[in-house]
Amino acid sequence: MKKDARFWRLSQARQISGFGHVVDLPDEMPDGDSIGSPNASTARLFENGREIGPAHALHSDIEALGQGRFSHWGRQLYLSASDGTSASSNGRVYELLIEPEEEGVAGVLRDGADRVSALQSDYERFELAERLFNILVPGAKVSEFGRTYFEDQSFASVYERFGEGNYRAYDRRWTVAQLARHAVSLEGTFAECGVYRGATAYLIARTLKLYGASGLKLHLFDSFSGLSNPSSSMDGQYWRAGDMAAGLDEVRANLAEWSDCIIIHPGWIPSRFSDVATERFAFVHIDVDLFQPTHDSLVFFYERMLPGGVILCDDYGFASCPGARTAMEDFFESVRETIIHLPTGQGLVIVNGR
Ligand SMILES: C[S@@+](CC[C@H](N)C(=O)[O-])C[C@H]1O[C@@H](n2cnc3c(N)ncnc32)[C@H](O)[C@@H]1O
Repeated sequence: MKKDARFWRLSQARQISGFGHVVDLPDEMPDGDSIGSPNASTARLFENGREIGPAHALHSDIEALGQGRFSHWGRQLYLSASDGTSASSNGRVYELLIEPEEEGVAGVLRDGADRVSALQSDYERFELAERLFNILVPGAKVSEFGRTYFEDQSFASVYERFGEGNYRAYDRRWTVAQLARHAVSLEGTFAECGVYRGATAYLIARTLKLYGASGLKLHLFDSFSGLSNPSSSMDGQYWRAGDMAAGLDEVRANLAEWSDCIIIHPGWIPSRFSDVATERFAFVHIDVDLFQPTHDSLVFFYERMLPGGVILCDDYGFASCPGARTAMEDFFESVRETIIHLPTGQGLVIVNGR
């Protein structure tokens, strides 16, 4: 423990609601968490000398669940006793330990490492990881703990077979599969523009086979030579022609399991769209990263969508794909449809076809 760590004995708590109690903190104590920095406080809480927690608890959880949860929020401490008794009348001594941060990222990481062995649950470890993550990557935001979609083993095994060694695309691919599941009931044709190695095509085809009427088809459009030429004025500097290239043989092999419902149309978008000019579409996944092929895909497919059909643009909310966003916004403004900006970064349109 660092030399200037300090215990503060708390004055009498007053009850607010349920197990929740509050103590006003002395002026000389450091400020706690705030809306902009929800994990800023390093305070640890001790009840008769025994550490309790977790810290940074939601105030509603402190009140409803108690069990030692607490929150050092601004100039106040919200706390609950460890065992359902009243923190204002159980006669126990409550002390806060404030350990000043070492300077810099390395100091924060050392502090975190020191605390790991005292953490008792996955949730507490998640909170520590969140705090460290926020410090290392200040602009990025960690999402909720305990989301059950990570427990779907069958989805996870499909995701992992196209494994890129991380789970960054997990939420987007999950969304693709869920929306495809919704669209099968329309009994229209499915399409994907931008296939790469076939990861999302695999999930869409699997959904068609598991839940769709027999005979439904998935049409796949890709150059199989990577991206076309980015426009420097529309697409920024991130992409280069030929990025994301995967060969047709590799993709056919990856999708062999679903070969009876998949039709592949190799070529530059939009040159092969005429192959499906007479179809009506229930689901179109557009994932080509650039302005021009996104625009061309929207122009072709939108007027062939069934009412209630799904158009999902993978690239809509990403700084690396400004052209895809412009193509979506310009097009859907002109036909007066709403783009739903999903927290995954995807842009979703449920076609109403006015
Ligand atoms: C991001 S990758 C697709 C990823 C895939 N949907 C997935 O999630 O696994 C983009 C794909 O778009 C294709 N592409 C980009 N521009 C194209 C164009 N103008 N014509 C045809 N294909 C294009 C690339 O070849 C690449 O396979």
